[in-house]
Amino acid sequence: MGILGDLRVLYHMVICPIRGQNHAERMNHFYSGQAADYDDFRRRLLRGREELWQKMLESEPFTNTVWMDMGGGTGSNLHFFGDAIDQLNKVYVVDLAGSLLEVADRRIHESGWKNIETAEADATTFIPTEGSVDAVTFSYSLTMIPDWFAAIDHAWNVLKPGGRIGVVDFYVSRKYPVSGHVKHSWLKRMFWTNWFAYDNVFPSPDHVPYLHRKFEPILFEERLTRIPWFPNPFFKMPYYLFIGRKKTAATETTATT
Ligand SMILES: C[S@@+](CC[C@H](N)C(=O)[O-])C[C@H]1O[C@@H](n2cnc3c(N)ncnc32)[C@H](O)[C@@H]1O
Repeated sequence: MGILGDLRVLYHMVICPIRGQNHAERMNHFYSGQAADYDDFRRRLLRGREELWQKMLESEPFTNTVWMDMGGGTGSNLHFFGDAIDQLNKVYVVDLAGSLLEVADRRIHESGWKNIETAEADATTFIPTEGSVDAVTFSYSLTMIPDWFAAIDHAWNVLKPGGRIGVVDFYVSRKYPVSGHVKHSWLKRMFWTNWFAYDNVFPSPDHVPYLHRKFEPILFEERLTRIPWFPNPFFKMPYYLFIGRKKTAATETTATT
């Protein structure tokens, strides 16, 4: 951990090229050498996750609900449920990287949680035993899923009517964002898109508009964060929090009439 852990993570993020014949292999190759140091580094890099969980939990009853955390990695988000975790019917941590899920499995075992299951599966296709769910979250995973359209569409399909999606992730704005949304400079849009692409992270100008199109927005916040070890602390990376609801047949009708 500490500086040595950071150096191991930085080696995988900045130097070691990602190898693999397909997306799952690339995810496993990228994460297997940094799984043990993942949580410590990502705590400083991936902001807003705890807040997203708090906002989702405090706004609606969660007792007996089924929740899927897509691209859930080491399962560190599970701690954000706090005492609420025992009241949930089931939580699935879905991820393609087996090395990160091993950390999640240890965490679940050590915490004694009985209602949590990990699944080494693709977030664009995974269907839980229950068939449908009450909540789906993506924390910094949408930017790593090549077919993110399919991931959002799949989340919509497995959500019950009225169910909620929560997303926190990096992004860049469109050149001309819709009124009320933040516009990022050309430099910010170009620089961060290319910087993150090396790690197969693709901050997109289209995630936010697509989420707004598919779901009824409950919360949307646009923010900036510092990247650990990045030489210029004033050049910050944009990220957002989004909570949306799958429209029910009734709200769809109201919207179209
Ligand atoms: C930056 S990590 C975020 C992990 C975790 N959500 C967190 O907040 O710490 C992105 C995760 O998405 C996973 N991932 C990428 N593509 C995926 C896919 N198609 N299906 C499931 N997981 C995927 C990666 O393996 C990785 O664990």
